[in-house]
Amino acid sequence: MTVTFFNSKQYDQQSFTEVNDQFGHELRFLAVPLNAQTAMLAKGAQAVCVFVNDRVDAEVLEQLAEAGVELLALRCAGYNNVDLKAAAALGLQVVRVPAYSPYAVAEHTLALILTLNRKTHRAYNRVREGNFALTGLLGFDLHGRTVGLIGLGTIGLATARILKGFGCRVLGFDIQNSPEVEEIGVEFTDLDSLYAQSDIISLHCPLTPETHHLINNDAVAKMKDGVMLINTSRGAIIDTKAVIKGLKSEKIKYLGLDVYEEEGDLFFEDYSNKVIQDDVFMRLLSFNNVLITGHQAFFTADAMHNIAQITLQNITDFAEKKELANAVHA
Ligand code: NAI
Repeated sequence: MTVTFFNSKQYDQQSFTEVNDQFGHELRFLAVPLNAQTAMLAKGAQAVCVFVNDRVDAEVLEQLAEAGVELLALRCAGYNNVDLKAAAALGLQVVRVPAYSPYAVAEHTLALILTLNRKTHRAYNRVREGNFALTGLLGFDLHGRTVGLIGLGTIGLATARILKGFGCRVLGFDIQNSPEVEEIGVEFTDLDSLYAQSDIISLHCPLTPETHHLINNDAVAKMKDGVMLINTSRGAIIDTKAVIKGLKSEKIKYLGLDVYEEEGDLFFEDYSNKVIQDDVFMRLLSFNNVLITGHQAFFTADAMHNIAQITLQNITDFAEKKELANAVHA
């Protein structure tokens, strides 16, 4: 099958080309994002492959259908960027990679927690400058602290297992419970109790109309003074302005983000020689207790291999008219 990749980087080309030896699809890699101006570049392909920040709205889907595309293959887990109703109306199938390495994201969550707590990013620079003073580097023991996880799916539970290893008390909230939650030793609770008791809160739910700006002024007000807030899920789950307010009042003492609600205009690109126009983002960067990574939690060699493997298998299943195990429906 011919597959056009949008927004593809050198690392995507490498992992997909390697894995495609087993599948034999024709892969066309484009660097441009998918949008209304670029959709027609898919002409001649039966499938397109897109990533988290490609905006696949009704207009784009109409153009893809017109170009002859039958399958939209997401090389990611989240699908909040796709108008699923429009896809269904046009007869376009959508597939995704529901889980490729929960460990990659869970371990990055811990990297953010540990870096913010022990300030290794600041210590690294100090030591390189011959400054061995410890003032400002004071951390706390993770052991015995309470961590609240919102979303107890694959990644939330992988994070819970690591935190239990550190000796943390783990609270969790989800719209559904599973036996694994209790097996791991996570205390299932309601959101208000989680906000009130957690020293660290980490988000692992998808972005949906219900979770959009879940972390707003009200939620921040319910949190413990000095809370650490971590988001490796989707940017718009946090109302950034509310969190900036919380940082200024010192209600929030640490903020770790791998995702940002307006990241689509910034992340995965090199802006080091340009002027960043997003004032809200730049305000976030001005706090020394805010650590931001550019949506890299998934980015391990293991995860990249699995993403390519599962995406190309999804495409093969479609080509062979098999049942699509990873289909996404409206
Ligand atoms: P999953 O589907 O296994 O788990 C999501 C969990 O969230 C489910 O248990 C679901 O019931 C729960 N949930 C849904 N609505 C909720 C709500 N309103 N309140 C509380 N819980 C709710 O998904 P997985 O694999 O654990 O991924 C979680 C999210 O992480 C994805 O949706 C994606 O947005 C994000 N992600 C981020 C990556 C990164 O590189 N930063 C990479 C992969 C995923």
